[in-house]
Amino acid sequence: MAMLNAGILTISDKGSQGRRQDKSGPVIREELERIDSNVVDYDIVPDEKDVIAARLARWADGGKMDVIFTTGGTGLAVRDVTPEATLAVIDRNVPGIAEAMRARSLEKTPMAMLSRAVAGLRGKCLIVNLPGSPRAVRECLEVILPTVPHAVEIIKGEVTEHTVQGARVIKE
Ligand code: MTE
Repeated sequence: MAMLNAGILTISDKGSQGRRQDKSGPVIREELERIDSNVVDYDIVPDEKDVIAARLARWADGGKMDVIFTTGGTGLAVRDVTPEATLAVIDRNVPGIAEAMRARSLEKTPMAMLSRAVAGLRGKCLIVNLPGSPRAVRECLEVILPTVPHAVEIIKGEVTEHTVQGARVIKE
């Protein structure tokens, strides 16, 4: 399977002002190190819908990233606008990714129902929202990361049938 090229976007008002250390972005990086991947870019932006949307669009359209993971801003606070920014730039929703994260996370905490995270495609780039806490990031990536490389192969058109890899993952 080809190397996974990823972008990490932390969404945090305080983090973007240097008033809080970003702990969640590094957790994404750490989890990505466990698989064959390359972090193309990492940044922190404030909880502003237009700023988030513009960055997601720029990174996705740049063609260097197979996947962008965002962390933060998925909850119910007034400033939580990550899902709206994501929905504004994706062309296709991939609801199963967010459903899987919430389903498995609910087994750990009822608070998981409060994440409005979405996932979808902008062109050939998969964008996935993760909640903001480092623990949530780890728990959610545990659920989806095993499937992401296969998803990316399908998106890129490298796998056109449900052959080998997908079947093997299910059997294992
Ligand atoms: N999902 C998992 N797996 N583990 C968690 O601890 N925390 C929840 C939820 N999802 C959590 C989780 C909490 S407390 C909130 S408020 C929402 O994600 C939204 O988080 P965010 O606003 O930081 O994105």
